[in-house]
Amino acid sequence: MTMQWWRDAVIYQVYPRSFADGDGDGVGDIAGIRARLGHLRDLGVDAIWMSPWYPSPMADAGYDVSDFRDIDPVFGSLSEAEALIAEAHEAGIRIIIDIVPNHISSEHPWFKAALAGGKERDYFWFRKSQNMPTNWTGEFGGTTWTQTPDGDWYLHLFTPEQPDLNWEHPDVRAEFESILRFWFDRGADGIRIDSAALLFKDTTLPEVVDGEPHPFHDLDAVHDVYRSWRRIAEEYEGRALIGEVWMPDVERFTNYLRPDELHAAFNFDFLGCAWDPYLMRSCIDRTLDAHARVGAPPTWVLSNHDVTRHVTRYGRTDTTFSFENNLDGTPVDLELGTRRARAAALLTLSLPGSAYIYQGEELGLWENENIDPDQMQDPMYARRGHTRDGCRVPLPWSGDEPPFDFTTGVPWLPQPAEWKDRTVQAQTGDPNSMLELYRSAIGLRTFTDTDFAWLDRGEGVLAWTRGTDFACVLNLSDAPVPLPEHRDILLASSSLDGDLLPRDTAVWLRL
Ligand code: GLC
Repeated sequence: MTMQWWRDAVIYQVYPRSFADGDGDGVGDIAGIRARLGHLRDLGVDAIWMSPWYPSPMADAGYDVSDFRDIDPVFGSLSEAEALIAEAHEAGIRIIIDIVPNHISSEHPWFKAALAGGKERDYFWFRKSQNMPTNWTGEFGGTTWTQTPDGDWYLHLFTPEQPDLNWEHPDVRAEFESILRFWFDRGADGIRIDSAALLFKDTTLPEVVDGEPHPFHDLDAVHDVYRSWRRIAEEYEGRALIGEVWMPDVERFTNYLRPDELHAAFNFDFLGCAWDPYLMRSCIDRTLDAHARVGAPPTWVLSNHDVTRHVTRYGRTDTTFSFENNLDGTPVDLELGTRRARAAALLTLSLPGSAYIYQGEELGLWENENIDPDQMQDPMYARRGHTRDGCRVPLPWSGDEPPFDFTTGVPWLPQPAEWKDRTVQAQTGDPNSMLELYRSAIGLRTFTDTDFAWLDRGEGVLAWTRGTDFACVLNLSDAPVPLPEHRDILLASSSLDGDLLPRDTAVWLRL
């Protein structure tokens, strides 16, 4: 792979709490990841993105960081992290780490010093005010200000345990530049930037008004920060900056991907798109056009640790995803969802750009919608009524019943007993399994050109070529359709109906 590896990589998201547990406390850790690195090597991924592993009170599962230069004891130690980076590199796998610049933990030394009245107070958004300074609604729902015992209010776009940093302050900028270097020096190949569009706020604190500039989404000043981060990344070789940018406006979205800013960003437009031929095709076109204009690689994301797993989404009547439209608990046809998820894998792995796999999607896991409210841990649940716990359930590795060798203890979230045929062990060697489909697809995925063209195969069918001898055909119509002329069928997401491609099925063809 080229030094611009992020342009066409397959990147696997490891959610450390739920990947594999090495010490039996029921929470995944670095020892578990190191022991299971073989799974990722066998899958054939190019890189892994680690969700936060830093010391944290875990008010938001580690997205409330109290020290960016160390590892939480529940996950291991800094030397284990360094060993993991080295072992991954030996296995040919790059490592992306997660940096959370918008906020830190209320237990971070800066915030403690701020509460004690130190100069660090200016690193945050403290306001003196009789009432709450604004009526903003936070990203998890609920209010965004908390009053301290001395009567001042501080801003938090997420939970009160995640005070927002003041990015106008040069010390904040300098600190994060130093954190980037700290991890680049330890071999990190990339940085995933959490909540990348939220860093700046309108200092006059206006209310959110339709049609007016938003007071804390996507303020222009943020681009200057990413330009300086890009310069730092370029002092090293082959390091990528990948933004978590939720942005309905694709023009504003691709501003983050201009040649002197981030290298890539997650395509949430595609993630939220319905399983529908017209909507999907227009989303793909929109994505390709917008990225081409700034010269950035498109990305294809089906799931992550914040959204309902796509086997579940695609098994519902409403197949879209958005935080505003909570579909938790609506009826799901898991067989249909799985069939579509298989087709979606062949789609995302053959479009131009890079593809993200969220741990467990290669096993066909569905959302666990049967977690008791008293076992739920996600702070979003209390504020918004939607829980992200159902997609964060520990992976099933082997055996016939929970905890499926995830741990020798009790998993921090319950696993469905039905996952016994979804374990890595049960699926290995079964040519019809989701795992073997992913392994084959990633193994065959050798597109080096960006030569993409639509192929017209009639209504309801999405088909495209890559180069001169490869095509992917996905049937989203109601009836089976004929295949274009081809030499071989390289891979099919479900069995064919004679010579016909059944609905909700994708094939890879050699032309
Ligand atoms: C991002 C993360 C999410 C977290 C939030 C606050 O959206 O993906 O898990 O809760 O930021 O850090």
